[in-house]
Amino acid sequence: MVDPGPSPTPGAGEQETDGAAAPGSSGLEDVLVARVARHGPVTFAEVMELALYDPVAGFYAATGHAGRRGGDFLTSPEVGPLFGAVLARALDAWWRELGEPEPFVVVECGAGPGTLARTVLAADAACANALTWVLVERSERQRRRHGEILPLVEPAMALSVAAEGPRFVSLPTLPALRVRGVVLANELLDNLPVRLLEWRDDAWCEVRVGLGTPSGGPPGAGAHLAEYLVPAEQSHAELATRLVPAPSPGARVPVQQVAGDWARAARDLLDAGRLVVVDYGDSTAALAARPVEEWLRTYRSHDRGTSPLADLGRQDITCEVAIDQLELVLGTATACSQAEFLRRWGIEELVAEGRRVWHERAHLGDLRAMTARSRVREAETLLDPAGLGAFRVLEWPVGERTEPGLPTHR
Ligand SMILES: C[S@@+](CC[C@H](N)C(=O)[O-])C[C@H]1O[C@@H](n2cnc3c(N)ncnc32)[C@H](O)[C@@H]1O
Repeated sequence: MVDPGPSPTPGAGEQETDGAAAPGSSGLEDVLVARVARHGPVTFAEVMELALYDPVAGFYAATGHAGRRGGDFLTSPEVGPLFGAVLARALDAWWRELGEPEPFVVVECGAGPGTLARTVLAADAACANALTWVLVERSERQRRRHGEILPLVEPAMALSVAAEGPRFVSLPTLPALRVRGVVLANELLDNLPVRLLEWRDDAWCEVRVGLGTPSGGPPGAGAHLAEYLVPAEQSHAELATRLVPAPSPGARVPVQQVAGDWARAARDLLDAGRLVVVDYGDSTAALAARPVEEWLRTYRSHDRGTSPLADLGRQDITCEVAIDQLELVLGTATACSQAEFLRRWGIEELVAEGRRVWHERAHLGDLRAMTARSRVREAETLLDPAGLGAFRVLEWPVGERTEPGLPTHR
């Protein structure tokens, strides 16, 4: 997601914060108010889960998606075909490194509408004939797009090599398979629900979401969603103490247990190959030193949104990835910036080729000429050190496993 600028701040640091939405302004706010009234304050992760993934009114179920036109935010695959073309080169190298297995399986988690798979397909990768690309996408609305833009095969055929590759499979959850290949996630982890801690009175507290009442009103009247601090669970407090040795009063950090669980499951899919995560992130201590509204953001229609407690389901909620928390689960990653990654895999060569094709074909003004010309602009966006170019590319290689391979039942 490219950040278009500063955002309004959620009320951070107060025992109870205002700036939250009045109930009734969206169906999900009513749901949450009713849930809190019945069960008491919920975690921020529960709010994020409801706001993004409620099957009817959640942001990704209802309207939200990446894209230049009509989208809410811009991701690297949606910038244009260049990101997929560079990734195709990396995939070829990783395929060769594994001894050119067939099938060579790429599991792309949080695949959105399938743009990355489509652009890799268009890049004529050397591994294409061996390739099975599994698109894992939670939103049914976005999964429907997969069949419109890609020739899908039935999930039961995912690992069959009877049909020549590339084979595309669309699934709502990670497959129950062991594969040789790559598990890939571009801008997935920042969308996974987080719990929030705050350092207050020399202790880690958890930010919960409950109901606040305007002062002076009768009890229950005009109740709105508001933040409360409760003592943090011991395991969360220990995690924060370990990762943030010297917090300042009011410092907040995310607890990314959902991302950690996903990472473990994703790594465990691999018999051999690599887990590759592309996202924006920082260490937990660095996040603690920054204002929360800088790393916990909302987006709508390419603009920054409002408080994460407002407009539930109508705006994206995204949290920078605490990379050290992932590393506690998976071990130290091989890490570089997206700009470094794309340069390593030949973006500059592809741009030079684009310039050459444009000069040869500009007078024709055909699709090849236009595609070639757009590469220059795409590269600028993908490499921008103040934007997508600064994203982190994290890799965890998985060596050949000794136990028997696929399929396994879990
Ligand atoms: C920010 S979008 C990124 C889409 C795409 N990867 C891109 O870069 O354009 C995140 C996507 O992850 C999906 N998602 C979130 N949690 C998921 C999960 N546990 N499994 C599969 N998809 C998930 C969302 O529905 C959404 O489409």
